Amino acid sequence: MRGGARIGVVTAGGDAPGLNAAIRAVGRGALDAGDEVIGILNGWTGLLEDGGHKVLDEDDFSGIVARGGTILGSSRTAPLNDDEGMSRLLAGVQRLGLDALIAIGGDGTLGLARRLSERGVRVVGIPKTIDLDVGNTEVCIGFDSALSIVVDALDRLHTTAASHHRVMVLETMGRDTGWLATLGGLAGGADVVCIPEFPISIEEVAQRLDARRHAGKLSSIVVVAEGAHIDGLAEHLVPIDEAGHPQLARRAIGEAVATAVERRIGAETRATVLGYLQRGGAPVATDRVWASRLGATAAKMARTAGPDAVAVREGHVVPSSLAALTEHRRLVHERLYDLCRVVG
Ligand code: F6P
Repeated sequence: MRGGARIGVVTAGGDAPGLNAAIRAVGRGALDAGDEVIGILNGWTGLLEDGGHKVLDEDDFSGIVARGGTILGSSRTAPLNDDEGMSRLLAGVQRLGLDALIAIGGDGTLGLARRLSERGVRVVGIPKTIDLDVGNTEVCIGFDSALSIVVDALDRLHTTAASHHRVMVLETMGRDTGWLATLGGLAGGADVVCIPEFPISIEEVAQRLDARRHAGKLSSIVVVAEGAHIDGLAEHLVPIDEAGHPQLARRAIGEAVATAVERRIGAETRATVLGYLQRGGAPVATDRVWASRLGATAAKMARTAGPDAVAVREGHVVPSSLAALTEHRRLVHERLYDLCRVVG
C-alpha cells in the first residue's frame, strides 16, 4: 500500500491529555503520504453507526496539539465481546472501505483491536491511559499530564494541611494499578500511599499516621488510588459501567479512609477527590512529544503489513504487537512502592 489508502483512526475508552497530539501526527503523516484519513467518532460506536465517521483534512489537525480531550470523541461502549458484536465491527470496517485502522486506547481498546487484527483487519494500536497499566511499554499517552496534576494537588494540600495540623487524604484514579498514586506520592511527598497492588489495612494506615504525630509531625498526607485494597474499611457496592468495570469514582474510598483515620487517631482529617481533573486539560510537553512520535510511526506502519502496535522501549518508539501490549498489566513493583515508605 503506498498512497491512496484509507486510514481510519479511533480513540476509545477514557480520554487522556495528548490524544489530539496523536491524532494530529497520525493524520498529518497519512496525508503527507497521500492517504485519506477517516476519523471514527465517539469510540467504537462510530464504526457501528451510519454517520459515525468524518473524513479529516489538514484543517482538522490545525491548532490541536495543546488541546485536551479528543476531537473524535470517545466512549466506553464495547458491544463487542461476542461474535455478533465483532461481526458488526468488521462490517463497519468494510462499509467505510478502511485499508487500516489506528486504535488509540488502553487495555480494553487495545484488546478489542487485537481481536480485529486476529480477524484480518490491518490494525495498529497506540497505548494511551492515565493509569500507565498497559504492558510492555514505558509510555502511555496521558500519564505524565495526569501525574503533574496529582503532584500539583499534593503541593497545595501540604500547605493547607500544615496550617491546620490536619491529615489530608488525596484520592487519585487508578483502577487496577497505582502508578499515579505511587509516583505522585513520591514526587509530592506523601506519607502513606495505598494502591491496588499492595493491600494494606486501615489499622496500619492509622498507626503510621499516629506514629508521625507522636514524632511531632503535626500534619500528614495520604494518597489513595481509587482501586486500592484496604482491609478493614466499610465498603458499599458501586455501579458497573458499559465496559463492565466498577465505577470506582463512586466508591468514595478517599472519604472512607479519612473517616476511618479520624475515628481511630482523633486527628482532624479531610479528603479530596481529584477525579476527572486528572484527565482534562492540556497535555504536558512529554505527552505531546510521545503522542507525536507514536502517532507518526503508527501512520507509517499502517501502510504496510507487519507488527500491529507501537510502544516505547528503552526510550525509543518501536514496532510492537497488540498481543504484547495486552498480555499483562504493567504493575507497580515492590521496590518502587517501598521507596514511598522510605522517603515518605
Ligand atoms: O481508564 C482510566 C480511568 O482513568 C480509570 O482510572 C478510572 O477508573 C476510569 O478511567 C474512569 O473512567 P470513566 O468514569 O470515564 O468511565
